[in-house]
Amino acid sequence: MAEKASKIFQAFREHSVAEFFKKNRQMLGYSGKIRSLTTIVHEYVTNSLDACEEAGILPDITVEIEQLGPDHYRVTVEDNGPGIPKSHVGKVFGKMLAGTKFHRFIQQRGQQGIGAAGCTMYAQITTGKPVRVVTSTGNGMIYECSVMIDVKRNEPVITDEKEYPGTMRGTRVIGEFKGVKYVKSEYGPYEYLRRTAIANPHAKIVFRDPEGARHVWERAVDALPAIPKPSKPHPYGLTAHDLLEYASMSKARSLKSFFVQTFDRVSAAKVKELEELTGIDFNRKPDSLTWEEAATIIDAIKKIKFLAPSTKNLYPIGQEQIEKAILNVLKPEFHSVVTRPPSVYRGGVPFIVEAGIAFGGEAGRKVDSSRKMEIMRFANRAPLLFDSGACVITKVVNEIDWKRYGLKDAENMPVTIVVNITSTYIPYTSAGKQAISDEEEIHKEIKLALQEVARKTSIHISRKIKAKEKSEKKKTLLKYIPEIADALQKLVGANKQEVEKKLLEIVEKKYKEWEAGEETSENGEKELEKLEEMAVKEDLENGSIGE
Ligand SMILES: Nc1ncnc2c1ncn2[C@@H]1O[C@H](COP(=O)(O)OP(=O)(O)OP(=O)(O)O)[C@@H](O)[C@H]1O
Ligand SMILES: [Mg+2]
Repeated sequence: MAEKASKIFQAFREHSVAEFFKKNRQMLGYSGKIRSLTTIVHEYVTNSLDACEEAGILPDITVEIEQLGPDHYRVTVEDNGPGIPKSHVGKVFGKMLAGTKFHRFIQQRGQQGIGAAGCTMYAQITTGKPVRVVTSTGNGMIYECSVMIDVKRNEPVITDEKEYPGTMRGTRVIGEFKGVKYVKSEYGPYEYLRRTAIANPHAKIVFRDPEGARHVWERAVDALPAIPKPSKPHPYGLTAHDLLEYASMSKARSLKSFFVQTFDRVSAAKVKELEELTGIDFNRKPDSLTWEEAATIIDAIKKIKFLAPSTKNLYPIGQEQIEKAILNVLKPEFHSVVTRPPSVYRGGVPFIVEAGIAFGGEAGRKVDSSRKMEIMRFANRAPLLFDSGACVITKVVNEIDWKRYGLKDAENMPVTIVVNITSTYIPYTSAGKQAISDEEEIHKEIKLALQEVARKTSIHISRKIKAKEKSEKKKTLLKYIPEIADALQKLVGANKQEVEKKLLEIVEKKYKEWEAGEETSENGEKELEKLEEMAVKEDLENGSIGE
């Protein structure tokens, strides 16, 4: 039996959404102690960034995590954003799907209107406590209150309200959580914020960790990113579910005007074609659409030719901005960045891929005293830390033949690979929003981007690696000079000091030639070869190779 779209969505939105997510909290990222803490930081920080950008404010964000007990922490996030009007605080933190963003087709980090209330719910179910919100729109008054959710009704419960004069502008949220754990690994808040700094060079981020250490990522650029404008979804990117959702929200008088108003590249003539193909009466009200009809329309859409979607409402980070961020955060010896031209996946959703490679300096994932390759994945500038195996970005990075670009043992090199996908709709593999699905066009664009940056860096990298190999060779050679001189003295009575001096001269000469990139003399070459063979043999005997 076909149910009316409006009824289903009204029920979902008004009554069951909070209960639904209480039972299915893993869908919001609350699974596992480590991931849950990172999710909380992610939700608050993305909200702060979105709010600042929309208001045209350069973000200043402070995150503090304090440990209160085993698996028990307090998280405070403060921003210098526009603040939240008193009358909205309850809806933002104590009601799910209350935001206005839900049906805006816009490139922003927040997409659903669940994040902030999701944190409140997690605080509530793990500690029984509300979250505390302090906010001001900069009008000279500061408003404070505690917020919980009445889960059954999906309504906010506000207590301990206060209002007083003050000069603050922005929002501070304080929440207490159990069932969370702080780790300084690639899955923890520190890494999350480090990556946020790379994809958001216009933000200043300060982090006080549970040990009391203060980490600061300074702003690398003073220009605000362009404020994204809402765009219309293209019919090719729609599913039957999307169509019903839009129909249930529409105030249009007929399906005909609903289609023309809501979707990109749909004219009255195209609606007529749809009408003919489906036999559905498009003079009916949009919210009378049934599941079956929606599915029929989606099938018909595939048979009709629409213009490709416009890409003018996509705002990538930008090549220069990523470069500045990489220099600021990773301090690499060299780097290379590319922003690809816009492209379209599923025939209807526009996207842009950006990629960067940083080599040396603080690039790479620190493992003990060495650094290994790290892949930083981003979707609309928000870092993706989990489910990396399921993500198209990881897949493509692993497909690249790094050897070809001079990275012989890429896995074990100080390399950071950055990939950001910008889109009005990111195709996540699951509700956890941590992995991007393997769409053919996205796959191809990532590959082209990575190949381009790899090509650009390959010359530098191979030069650098050769220089390093040579200086290591020199070190090894120098190590054996005293032993050889000693042996020669004992065997043939040579003057040890003189032999040492001579050998040293040979090594230095050879090294200088290397550095200058000149051809070496045959003699010197032979001498060195001998020294080297000896070194290798001795190392083998001593079992010290591979140390
Ligand atoms: N720090 C903040 N400053 C100003 N407004 C905020 C702040 N945090 C949240 N908001 C407002 O509250 C709304 C709801 O936030 P919430 O995180 O619940 O949803 P969202 O960000 O729209 O989507 P998502 O569920 O994907 O996070 C935001 O859209 C924004 O308008
Ligand atoms: Mg949000």
